[in-house]
Amino acid sequence: MFLPIPLLAVIQSFLVLVDAQQPQQLVLERVLDISTANLPNPPAFRIPASTDPLFVTVALCAAHDNSTRFFLTNDSSISNPGASDVDSVNTVEIGIPAEGFGSWSTWFTDGGVLSVSKGSTVLEIQMLVSASNSTDMGFPLVGDTTSNQALVFSPPFDPPPIDSPTFPNYTLPSANLSFTPPASPPNYTLILAPTAQSNLTLLPRTACALRVAAPANAATLIPPFVAEGVWLRDSDGWRWQWLLNALSPLTNYTMFAIRTGELASSAPAYFVTKSATFNCPIVHSLSFCPSVAYATPLAPPAGVASAHTADTLPDGVADTLISIMANFTITLSTLACGRDVYSPLVTCAGCSDAYRRWLCAVSFPRCAETQSQTLTSQSSAQVPLPALQAVKSGATPRNPALPAFSSDYQALLPCLETCNAADRACPNFLGFKCPLPRFTAADSYGVGYIDNGDDGVIGHGSTGVAQDVYGNVWCNIG
Ligand SMILES: *[C@@H]1O[C@H](CO)[C@@H](O)[C@H](O)[C@H]1NC(C)=O
Ligand SMILES: *[C@@H]1O[C@H](CO)[C@@H](O)[C@H](O)[C@H]1NC(C)=O
Ligand SMILES: *[C@@H]1O[C@H](CO)[C@@H](O)[C@H](O)[C@H]1NC(C)=O
Ligand SMILES: *[C@@H]1O[C@H](CO)[C@@H](O)[C@H](O)[C@H]1NC(C)=O
Ligand SMILES: *[C@@H]1O[C@H](CO)[C@@H](O)[C@H](O)[C@H]1NC(C)=O
Ligand SMILES: *[C@@H]1O[C@H](CO)[C@@H](O)[C@H](O)[C@H]1NC(C)=O
Ligand SMILES: *[C@@H]1O[C@H](CO)[C@@H](O)[C@H](O)[C@H]1NC(C)=O
Ligand SMILES: *[C@@H]1O[C@H](CO)[C@@H](O)[C@H](O)[C@H]1NC(C)=O
Ligand SMILES: *[C@@H]1O[C@H](CO)[C@@H](O)[C@H](O)[C@H]1NC(C)=O
Repeated sequence: MFLPIPLLAVIQSFLVLVDAQQPQQLVLERVLDISTANLPNPPAFRIPASTDPLFVTVALCAAHDNSTRFFLTNDSSISNPGASDVDSVNTVEIGIPAEGFGSWSTWFTDGGVLSVSKGSTVLEIQMLVSASNSTDMGFPLVGDTTSNQALVFSPPFDPPPIDSPTFPNYTLPSANLSFTPPASPPNYTLILAPTAQSNLTLLPRTACALRVAAPANAATLIPPFVAEGVWLRDSDGWRWQWLLNALSPLTNYTMFAIRTGELASSAPAYFVTKSATFNCPIVHSLSFCPSVAYATPLAPPAGVASAHTADTLPDGVADTLISIMANFTITLSTLACGRDVYSPLVTCAGCSDAYRRWLCAVSFPRCAETQSQTLTSQSSAQVPLPALQAVKSGATPRNPALPAFSSDYQALLPCLETCNAADRACPNFLGFKCPLPRFTAADSYGVGYIDNGDDGVIGHGSTGVAQDVYGNVWCNIG
């Protein structure tokens, strides 16, 4: 139903009148969208009173010239704080840096007021009062890519509690892990665009700015309901997991993750798809190897699936790994765990985790290629080369349960640090040993990327990481 124009005007001025008496209340954890063209009079918003500290966040939905300013007070005698009230104790200016959002946290025992000082250009803005810092988002994570797919993860949330088992009830995680996902995980949406066709990284790093600019930047919004679900890769926490299809080969993509109810987006992460001839399918969602999320030298899955999961792996692969893990757990529990602590620094649970990560990384070789790395070297001449090893068609895999691969491929070797982590976490008498960097390690591991490659030295490697957020991958961390 449409109201006649004069009546609408009456209602609007009535609303303004009400606003003048009673500033609009911001509701805890509810985002307020408003344009600086439609601010109430005075342009002030009440913060609810709370005995816990609150975070007040302001986000801009477009590039700005710093002329729109935000003032916040917890002094109940100030009804419309402005520049002259700023005392840096009870009244502050929330500065908006280039990222396009700013936040302030303090106590609002008697409530407070957020006021907007309109700038020279009209801006859409978002405001949020929250019990937690809603600007601390982290990065989305790239599992791996093929020529036209990418397996990607949201930033982590709800890290699992660390429950170290204690004597006499020393129960280690079962060989085939099972976890109960959080009942109501936060929803994340991905924003994905070919890097060359988008200027998304020049915009404010806010959810509203990215959503508005998506169409003009060839960006796609990918909601949580098309994800493969949530997955617990490691102790960082749960992540949404998406298998993106229909991408273009040898293309650099930019992605952001935005979390429903939060104003800031994640920082951007990049990935590069492989060339059209790359033929290793992605393997993911293995409960016994939760960190495996990459392309592996296997025949493509039968049927309609476009990537392997536990259901489509060749017969015997899962059973063999579960059996190795189960036997290792039995040895570990019999020999080392329970009565005595074999080291003040590491536990049997830590050993079991680190061993699993290593076992999975060496059992599932990771495919990579030189072509997509060529893109990298164009962008920066100093980027070190990844730990690639040519594998001939039909070569016997390290894991005897895997069938031989029917074509030549490039293996991205596991990082030596994945082996060293298990060596360090596990008791000596299990006899777990990694090759020494100065001897044979480089034949089967990526050496010198994270740690520098001298025996016993931790850190100071050439890249410091196994992979970075720009889409470079140097070794397989598992
Ligand atoms: C706005 O302020 C920020 C931080 O002071 C500065 O880096 C940026 O260049 C300013 N932007 C404009 C358009 O003046
Ligand atoms: C929120 O977290 C971010 C990132 O850790 C930090 O830079 C910012 O200062 C925090 N905000 C407040 C109000 O503490
Ligand atoms: C206002 O904030 C200041 C610190 O920023 C705090 O010390 C003070 O207790 C707060 N006042 C109220 C009434 O909450
Ligand atoms: C032993 O620990 C496991 C897992 O922590 C628990 O499920 C089980 O109930 C405990 N058993 C006893 C007898 O306390
Ligand atoms: C491993 O556990 C998952 C559930 O956590 C189950 O669906 C799967 O069948 C198990 N696999 C094997 C080989 O036992
Ligand atoms: C996530 O989205 C689903 C479906 O729209 C909704 O039912 C659920 O409540 C949302 N969860 C949260 C934490 O917002
Ligand atoms: C990105 O910015 C450049 C330079 O400002 C401009 O030429 C180009 O049209 C922009 N592209 C998009 C998709 O907005
Ligand atoms: C695990 O131990 C059992 C019993 O000793 C043995 O039969 C089986 O072959 C072992 N599994 C593996 C993968 O070594
Ligand atoms: C992808 O593009 C970004 C932005 O231009 C660049 O920083 C990054 O190095 C590129 N990634 C690769 C692997 O080429």
